[in-house]
Amino acid sequence: MSSLLAILKQQILKNGPMALEDYMKAALLHPEFGYYQRGETFGVKGDFVTAPEISQMFGELIGLWSIDCWVKLGSPEKFHLVELGPGNGTLMSDALRSAALVPEFLSAAEITLVEASEQLTLRQQQTLSSYSITWCDVWPTFRDTLPIIVIGNEFLDALPVRQYEQVDGHWAERKIALAKDKLIFKCEDIAASALPENLPSVSECDEGSIFETNPSAEKICSNIAANIAKNGGSALFIDYGPSESGLGDSFQSVQHHKYTDPLDNPGTSDLTAHVDFARLGHLATVQNCETYPISSQGRFLERLGIEARALVLSRNAADNQKAKIAGDLQRLISSKEMGTLFKAMTFYANMTEGPAGFGE
Ligand SMILES: C[S@@+](CC[C@H](N)C(=O)[O-])C[C@H]1O[C@@H](n2cnc3c(N)ncnc32)[C@H](O)[C@@H]1O
Repeated sequence: MSSLLAILKQQILKNGPMALEDYMKAALLHPEFGYYQRGETFGVKGDFVTAPEISQMFGELIGLWSIDCWVKLGSPEKFHLVELGPGNGTLMSDALRSAALVPEFLSAAEITLVEASEQLTLRQQQTLSSYSITWCDVWPTFRDTLPIIVIGNEFLDALPVRQYEQVDGHWAERKIALAKDKLIFKCEDIAASALPENLPSVSECDEGSIFETNPSAEKICSNIAANIAKNGGSALFIDYGPSESGLGDSFQSVQHHKYTDPLDNPGTSDLTAHVDFARLGHLATVQNCETYPISSQGRFLERLGIEARALVLSRNAADNQKAKIAGDLQRLISSKEMGTLFKAMTFYANMTEGPAGFGE
């Protein structure tokens, strides 16, 4: 039994069923036993591989995407470049290498990384030791008026969700309880005033339907959008989830590249839930940002020119490397791999045109 499991069982015994949000947050970010406090989490040796760990092309293109946004913001002398949940620091390292093509962009960038895990902060500090960077563990309060460019890859899916289930013709909250010393899901009635505002009416859904909300993702996207609407800037989030809001239980656990029971040994596997991009895009427009329709990751990368970049890399590569570059390209853009399941979402303000990679 993991030490965290023992702690969570004690809490449930003392306080009763626990919100899924609190369970997921503890499993990922408990200061001592949280999953992201462990060393090796991403990569072939870890539990899962993210796009920047597959290929340098991913971060390089996001670097060029950021330069394009900076130009459309009027090439400001100073601006904030912020990455949320930077993992090993690979995306930012590749992005800054490609951004070196435009030295004025690099010298204008005040870089901030938002990372909740101490272990990963240390790793990012090693990877990015040649740059001047500020680290924060939450979205920072920017008191200046500088434009802001924000990037987050597989960040939103790591934020904790709440679930609601339709039981006997009404919505109840799906929580984590104890039965025979095992963690189980259990529905609990809650006050109508505590239900989320965007919950569909019971008449629109079948008995047993599950609805997920992500209060942390909603809060951070609303804050970022409010900052961007005020100072100008753009945000790019890439993650997995549907392009339209809907019902369903997407809470899942992955360990050593395989799905596992998310209630088994919390703190030892990666827990995620699908991102409701449509809802987050809507919240950004409420804050007066503009948006584009959500794009698949594959089309977004194609619009940014990933195939041309793969050709250039291949031209200079040894034969065994050429096959790897072609394989990596397919992993990122093919609809059989990450290309369709993963989506890109943007919102922006005060730009001469919308960010690259979206639209037609
Ligand atoms: C799935 S990893 C993605 C890492 C990286 N972006 C990549 O694509 O390889 C999620 C990242 O978000 C961080 N994270 C999770 N929850 C967070 C939170 N509430 N605040 C800040 N960072 C968080 C994790 O520690 C980790 O760095």
